[in-house]
Amino acid sequence: MTESTLLHLSNDELLRTTRAVRKRLDYERPVSRQLIEECLQLALQAPNGGNLNSWRWIIIDDPDVLRQVAEIYNGGLDDFIATFGDAGYAGAHVPGAERIETSTQHLRDNFHRLPAVLLPLISGRTDQASGHPGAVFWQAGMWGSIIQAVWSFMLALRARGLGSAWTTGHLWREQAMADLLSIPYDRYTQVGLFPIAYTLGTDFKPAHREPLEKVMSWNTFED
Ligand SMILES: Cc1cc2nc3c(=O)[nH]c(=O)nc-3n(C[C@H](O)[C@H](O)[C@H](O)COP(=O)(O)O)c2cc1C
Repeated sequence: MTESTLLHLSNDELLRTTRAVRKRLDYERPVSRQLIEECLQLALQAPNGGNLNSWRWIIIDDPDVLRQVAEIYNGGLDDFIATFGDAGYAGAHVPGAERIETSTQHLRDNFHRLPAVLLPLISGRTDQASGHPGAVFWQAGMWGSIIQAVWSFMLALRARGLGSAWTTGHLWREQAMADLLSIPYDRYTQVGLFPIAYTLGTDFKPAHREPLEKVMSWNTFED
């Protein structure tokens, strides 16, 4: 990695402008394995419970495998959409919902063309923790031992002119993905699928969020 490949964003700018990128991914331009590994090396510095390092990272860049991964991703989203029924999607009224929908569709249509995709795994089954004493402790420990590393990976991509998007759609078909990639389903929970591609342009803006005063309180819970 040479300095010249960094965008030289300030820390605050990086945190403010790392977006879910779907329409502005460059589906044509190859991404080197070296660059992906470099971003993962940085990601591995994230905190994880007990420093157990009980994560696994699968990168898919074989076009044949990627085509099958894309099919499972799309099938999972179909399963999710089928759950809406007549009530429609609960998030349909959030600001920018239409743009999210067209952008999500764009990624669905082009998923198989991505240069590479990351699939992180965390040891254990978060669904098996449900109903046991300390279930929330175990679930928080598992998710908290992988999410920060994945976000670091996405920040490292952005710092280098690449983009990604957090996606969980395929988890409706987690078992099918486990079968495809020889993942021991009973021992590892899949976190999501993370596109890896250069972005078309590097200028990204802050997103809409509920204002801080609406979601924050001091010393006691406020609804
Ligand atoms: C937990 C989670 C799951 C998501 N799942 C999907 C998904 O399956 N497909 C997709 O296209 N985007 C997915 N997204 C992306 C969100 O739609 C996106 O982050 C949101 O619209 C806000 O946009 P921003 O990240 O650019 O601020 C997911 C994001 C998160 C955090």
